[in-house]
Amino acid sequence: MTLIYSEVPAMNKVVLLSGSPRSNGNTEQIVSECARVITSHGVEAQVISFAGRKIESCTACYKCGELGKCVINDGLNDIIDLIREAQGLIVASPVYFGSARGDVMSALQRIGMVSMTCGNFLSWKVGGPIAIARRGGHTATIQEMLMFFLMNEMIVPGSQYWNMLFGREPGQVMQDSEGIATIRMFAENVAELVKKIN
Ligand SMILES: Cc1cc2nc3c(=O)[nH]c(=O)nc-3n(C[C@H](O)[C@H](O)[C@H](O)COP(=O)(O)O)c2cc1C
Repeated sequence: MTLIYSEVPAMNKVVLLSGSPRSNGNTEQIVSECARVITSHGVEAQVISFAGRKIESCTACYKCGELGKCVINDGLNDIIDLIREAQGLIVASPVYFGSARGDVMSALQRIGMVSMTCGNFLSWKVGGPIAIARRGGHTATIQEMLMFFLMNEMIVPGSQYWNMLFGREPGQVMQDSEGIATIRMFAENVAELVKKIN
């Protein structure tokens, strides 16, 4: 039987994680802008905010390989299921003392471990990190989060600059015009790459 590729259902979707505890803060606003760009390119976008959530750290129990999910019951498994089905993953974090917020790294480490023990479902997903800060620590934060993407065989497109934006009070980040242009181009590249890979 011949398989006609155009008959394979296209599953173009990007999950976007906003790692700030502040609802409608800078990180959420940036993630929403990325989602807007992605949908304007014909790819579905689903934003998940960490505001109101508490993400526990990996306890190294290695039960995920047997269970197909994490043993910790804090809602991350629902997010992992959404990521599993998507073709893209963007993770945005505020910079806290020169690094990503703790809950963001806790989430990435558990998502990565579940993927590695359950068939490497992150492989070939397209995406990357975004860092938001008042003044400094962006590049270290991007590099920290990038470790997760590159160790899970994910594909990270570039942009005109690194995915970093400046802002302190909620909404200030939208005035960083170069940062906004950078993440718009990044989001566009994620969407176009997802379509090409599919
Ligand atoms: C605990 C904590 C640590 C922070 N550390 C830094 C830092 O190292 N560098 C910096 O420029 N801003 C730092 N900030 C400021 C935030 O990164 C900044 O306000 C950011 O816009 C917050 O994003 P949000 O509005 O999405 O929460 C820190 C804020 C908090 C609460």
